[in-house]
Amino acid sequence: MDRDDLAIYLHWPFCQSKCPYCDFNSHVAEKVDQDQWAEAFEVEVSRFAEELGPKRIASIYFGGGTPSLMHPETVDRILSAVRRNWSLRNDVEITLEANPSSVEVARFEGYKRAGVNRVSMGFQSLVDADLRALGRLHSVDTALKALESARSVFDRVSFDLIYARQDQSLGAWRAELTRALDLLPTHMSLYQLTVEDGTAFAQRLAAGALRGLPNEDLSVDLYELTQELCNTRGLYAYEVSNHAIPGYESRHNQIYWQGGDYVGIGPGAHGRLTLQGHRYATVAPKAPGAWLAQVRAGKAGEEPRDTLSSQAWAEELILMGLRTRDGIDLSRIERLTGRRVTEKALQGLLELAMIAQTGSQVNATAQGRLVLNAVIRALADRI
Ligand SMILES: C[S@@+](CC[C@H](N)C(=O)[O-])C[C@H]1O[C@@H](n2cnc3c(N)ncnc32)[C@H](O)[C@@H]1O
Ligand code: SF4
Repeated sequence: MDRDDLAIYLHWPFCQSKCPYCDFNSHVAEKVDQDQWAEAFEVEVSRFAEELGPKRIASIYFGGGTPSLMHPETVDRILSAVRRNWSLRNDVEITLEANPSSVEVARFEGYKRAGVNRVSMGFQSLVDADLRALGRLHSVDTALKALESARSVFDRVSFDLIYARQDQSLGAWRAELTRALDLLPTHMSLYQLTVEDGTAFAQRLAAGALRGLPNEDLSVDLYELTQELCNTRGLYAYEVSNHAIPGYESRHNQIYWQGGDYVGIGPGAHGRLTLQGHRYATVAPKAPGAWLAQVRAGKAGEEPRDTLSSQAWAEELILMGLRTRDGIDLSRIERLTGRRVTEKALQGLLELAMIAQTGSQVNATAQGRLVLNAVIRALADRI
């Protein structure tokens, strides 16, 4: 992939209901005027294109919220705007996140006609009782039917599962993950449940009503079992929570983790842009109504952007890069930011076998990945 290529993240902030564990920028709305929303996305695409000039687009990602609540026409209008303003790589990846409770074949076909070529589905669990505990609207049967529909339309289909759930034993996760692997996925995102501040789960936990979460030992065992089972089936972890058969890794994810440039459009969307050697962070207003009003009033992008300091940029490259199997390239970090990790910090971690180094490439070992945050801190604090 050419490092000058650009990715686009588009945030659709609406959901049918709010899941109790979720702290994404997602809202339940009575009615959404999709025409207005499509127009606002078109305006924002043109605005960024005017600023950034000609670019080749390597990846477009519709995330949410629940982008599968978008009408195919809305997706088509946005992708047409991207095509009018920029050129797309021949092998562009265009992903849409889909919720099993809001898809059927006709809808997938509409997305495909619009240009979408990859779908990522939020399964979360393959156990009905646990789907209910997670507040999901779909059943296992619905998820499996949605998978079948998606596969009848797209070559690249991924699904997400959340593990380390309440009362989940090692044996139960083994059975569930085996069932998932028996579906022969080419890509899976497997996240350990985190109780995020401000969610209904956090309130329940504080009130002592969220019982049966795994202790640290069980969490580590669940993680290791996940790696073992996925490796046996050739779905390697190319990032901490993302597994793929070689060749099916998500390009969008890789652009994020390698510190590439991406435009973020939609409520609360983040972006990262490198302009004249400086790294800029962009973030759009979070509330859907505020974002829409700002764009419609022609006032989007008026606030000054955050420029990342060379230290913050280098830290971000380490933070994102070390989560991946390929790790970080020390020379590249130095070339971009002028900062280099100290030999002392590297030596310390090498001696503990937390990292491995080949030339200027450094990655976390299996052992290091278990304490990844500490490894990242040890490097990022010494640049
Ligand atoms: C933005 S959501 C996307 C998809 C879609 N809205 C859905 O839920 O089906 C991305 C993924 O993050 C994961 N996720 C969200 N909240 C989480 C949490 N608190 N702990 C672990 N994983 C979480 C879920 O697997 C979810 O599918
Ligand atoms: S997990 Fe997905 S469906 Fe549930 S509230 Fe969050 S974004 Fe919406």
